[in-house]
Formats: sequence, structure tokens, C-alpha cells
Amino acid sequence: MTRKVTKAIFPVAGMGTRFLPATKSVPKEIMTLVDRPLVQYAIDEARAAGITEFIFVTSRGKSALEDYFDHNQVLEQSLKEKGKNDLLETLQATNMESGAIAYIRQHKALGLGHAVWCARRLIGDEPFAVMLPDDVISGPKPCLQQMIEAYEETGGNMVAAMEVPEEKTSSYGVLDVGDNIGKVVRARGMVEKPKPQEAPSNLAVIGRYVLRPSVLYNLNQNKLGSGGEIQLTDAIAEDIRNGVPVFGYKFDGQRFDCGSKAGFLQATVAFALAREDLRDELRHYLHELATTGQAAQ
Ligand code: UTP
Repeated sequence: MTRKVTKAIFPVAGMGTRFLPATKSVPKEIMTLVDRPLVQYAIDEARAAGITEFIFVTSRGKSALEDYFDHNQVLEQSLKEKGKNDLLETLQATNMESGAIAYIRQHKALGLGHAVWCARRLIGDEPFAVMLPDDVISGPKPCLQQMIEAYEETGGNMVAAMEVPEEKTSSYGVLDVGDNIGKVVRARGMVEKPKPQEAPSNLAVIGRYVLRPSVLYNLNQNKLGSGGEIQLTDAIAEDIRNGVPVFGYKFDGQRFDCGSKAGFLQATVAFALAREDLRDELRHYLHELATTGQAAQ
């Protein structure tokens, strides 16, 4: 029997340089997709998957993220008095139970692997999830929930995987897989950001993981990898070499790379079009733009 996954690490200590100057003072994870910060999408997905302990690995300049999770009683009271029950409900749905969130500081941006390792004492000897909030995934069932259900059948490590165009492999960790069939694919190896001609497949890993504590032990060595950073991919690949199974999970759903400007814009349009209160006006505007080809002046 696999042990239940109840803890998730959210590594949010990166500098978010692709969104400068906004990220000079606003953490990327607080930037809003329609009307919710990116991090709220990740939290909702984690809760739906049964996560009860939320561990944020943060850095200098991320205090807005911590403040976001405070209960805002003044605002709640004011909405109550004005009878704005819908808004009150929206607000209260974001409230987290006291003690459910922990913050750990990564003192230097040494890489994703290092950020995850910073949370090792809070994880202990349990399986855990890792979620990168800038990957936003929409779909019929929350991605992490799909993965945890699959993990409960297989054990081992499970990473979210999707096929990408060959020329894009150098932006991802890529799985070396045998027969690339079915939803759950056992990996023979894993490489971080391979050049297209060196990529073992086009099955890329995106920001959802269910991992064994052995990955944290592998990170103890603090080995530098691709880009001079301590890579999570390398620590997972080490598990494969040690005989611990690693599976790529081809999730159902659409992934938006909100760590990039183009991806963020696409997600904004897609999520707004999915909203009844915004759909008609936006569709009309997009149609007008497409026919006149007019941009902001
Ligand atoms: P990215 O590669 O997207 O880096 O990190 P970034 O700093 O967020 O953004 P850019 O590239 O400068 O625009 C992927 C995830 O890993 C976390 C980031 O916060 C993000 O969630 N990360 C990365 C850390 O927590 N610490 C690190 O040292 C590096």
C-alpha cells in the first residue's frame, strides 16, 4: 500500500525575470489570471487532490504572497454588512486553515532542486507533491488528483508529462521512455533541457510531481546540473539509476505556461472565455480585433 500524499511543496523562490519590470515588486505567483492570482489555481488543485499541508519555498520580495493567505476580516465584515454574499463567498473560499501553510526561505536561487530540498525537514519520510504555480492546467479533473490516483496504483515517482514539439525540448526536462504508449509511461532516464538532437524523446516534464523522499536524499549532494543550477530532474533521474521506478503521467487537460508572457496571455484569454460573465464581451472584442487587425496604440 502506498502512503497517502498530504504534503505539497510550492517552489516560488525564482526571480521571475521574464516578467520584469512587474516582478520587481510583485511576485509572479500573485499576478492575476482573470481575477485570481496564479497561486490560487495551484492551491485549489492541491486541495482537490487531498493535500492538507502546503509548503511554500519563498525568497526575498515575496511577502505579498504570504499576505495573500491572511484572512481579511475587515473586508469580510464589510462585504457582510453590505450583503455582498457572492463576493464574501469568493473571498472565504480562499481562506486557509491556520497552520496549514508553512514558509521556508531559499536564501539563494540555486535552482528548482535546491528549492525543493529546502523543504526536506517539513517533508520527513513521506511521499510528497511538488507544484509549480506558473504551470496552470485546466481539464476535466485536476491534474494533481489524476496523478495521485495513478500513483496510488503504481507507487514510485510520478511526473506530469506532455508531448512538445521537438525544437522545444531544450526548455524542459525530457523523459527517456521505451514504448511511448498509454497514459502511464515508465522512464528509463531523464535529462534536463536537452538540445533537440540529443533529446531521448519529445515527452517533456511539466510542473507537477509526486515524489518519494528518496529524491530529497539524492538532493543532499547538492550537485550542480544544467545551467549551473541544482536540478530536480537530476535527483529524480538518480532514483531511476537506483532502481526506484519513475513514471511519466500523460494527464488529461490543457497546460498553460504562465511563466512566459505568451503563455500567460493565452491563459488569460482561454480562462476569460470560459467565464460566463466575460465570454460574450471578450469574444466580440477578439472578433473585432481579428477583423481590423488593430493593436493598442
Ligand atoms: P523558472 O525557471 O520559471 O524561473 O522556475 P523563475 O525565476 O520563476 O522565472 P524566470 O525564468 O526568471 O522568468 C521554475 C519554478 O522554480 C522556482 C520558481 O519560483 C518557479 O516556480 N525556483 C526556481 C525556485 O523556487 N528557486 C530557484 O532557485 C529556481
